[in-house]
Amino acid sequence: MQTIFSGIQPSGTLTLGNYLGAMKHFVDLQEEYNCYFCIVNQHAITVPQEKAKLKENSRSLAALYLAVGIHPDKSTVFIQSEVPAHAQLGWILQCVSYIGELERMTQFKDKSEGKAAVSAGLLTYPPLMAADILLYGTDIVPVGEDQKQHIELTRDLAERFNRQYNEIFTIPEARIPKVGARIMSLQNPTRKMSKSDENQNAFISMLDDEKTILKKIKRAQTDSDNEIRFDKEKKPGVSNLLTIYSLCANKSIEELENMYEGKGYGQFKEDTANAVIQALKPIQERYHELINSDELDEILDKGAEKANRTAQKMLFKAERAMGLERRRR
Ligand code: TYM
Repeated sequence: MQTIFSGIQPSGTLTLGNYLGAMKHFVDLQEEYNCYFCIVNQHAITVPQEKAKLKENSRSLAALYLAVGIHPDKSTVFIQSEVPAHAQLGWILQCVSYIGELERMTQFKDKSEGKAAVSAGLLTYPPLMAADILLYGTDIVPVGEDQKQHIELTRDLAERFNRQYNEIFTIPEARIPKVGARIMSLQNPTRKMSKSDENQNAFISMLDDEKTILKKIKRAQTDSDNEIRFDKEKKPGVSNLLTIYSLCANKSIEELENMYEGKGYGQFKEDTANAVIQALKPIQERYHELINSDELDEILDKGAEKANRTAQKMLFKAERAMGLERRRR
C-alpha cells in the first residue's frame, strides 16, 4: 500500500482555501492509502505565535481533520512536535540544503519581504517539511498549488541524500487538485486566500457562521459586466466564486455557467454562499462535538505513538547512513 503524507499549519483558523485545496481531498485518499496527516506546529513558529493561541489552534486543527471525515482507524493524525524525529531529520536535511536554493523559495520571499527581523527558521522551513515527508517513505503528498515548489525541493534533497549517503528515501510526488488548487482572496482575487490576511473579508474561515459567510461572499470583488462566466484572466473574482461554488455543491463549472446564463451577480452570490454554508455545516457540527472531548486527546496520543514508531526507524537509517550512530541499533 502506498503512503500519503500531508501537513497543515495551526497558524489560525483554517480557510475555505485550505479545505478545498487540501483537506477535502484527504478524506477520499484514506480509503486507498496509508495516510499520515500532521498538525505542523513547528512550522507555525517560524513566525511569531502567541502561546495560548498556538495551543488552541493546534487542537482546533486536529478537531477539523476529524470533523471533515478523517478516520483515526484509517489514518494517523498527530502533532509534529510530539514526534521529535521531524526536527532531528530536519537538521540533517538542513545540512544537505544549500542556502541559495532556500532563498529562492517563493514562500520565503513573500514572508520575509520588507521585514526587519526574519527568523532563520523561516529560511530553513523547507528542509523541515522535507523531513516530515521523507520520514514516512511517502509516495504522494496532496497539497494546494502554493506548496508545489516545496515538494520539488523535497525531491531534490531526497535524491541528493540518496546519492551522497545511501538510497534510503522514497522520492515523493505532489498531488495537486485540478480544480481548487488555488482559491483566491475574496477581496483581491489575484492573490491567494490566506488565513493570515489582515482583511477579514478576504477569507472564509471553516468555522464562520452562516451570516458571516453570506456577508463575505456578498462583498466579494467581482467586475461590472454582470456575466457569470469562467475566465481567470479577465474575470478572476467571478471565476473564483465559480470554483468555490462548484466544489461545495459538487457541480461542474460548465453546469453552473449554464444555470446562471442571463442571471445577475446578486442571486449567484447568494447561491454560492448557500453552497458554502451547506458544505461546512456538518463539519462545524462535528467539530463542536469533538473540540473539548477526551476522544480527541486519545486519538492524538495514539497518532503520535504510531508516527513515532515509523519515523524513528527512518531517522536511524539516515543517521546510520551518515555515520551518526555509535553502535548498530
Ligand atoms: P498551509 O498550512 O499554508 O496550508 C495547508 C494546505 O492548504 C493548501 N492551501 C490552499 N489550497 C488552495 N487555495 C488556497 N488559497 C490555499 N491556501 C492553502 C496548501 O497548499 C496546503 O496543502 N508548508 C505547508 C505545511 C506543511 C506540509 C508538510 C504540507 C508542512 N509540512 C508536509 C505537506 C507535507 C503549509 O504551509 O501549508
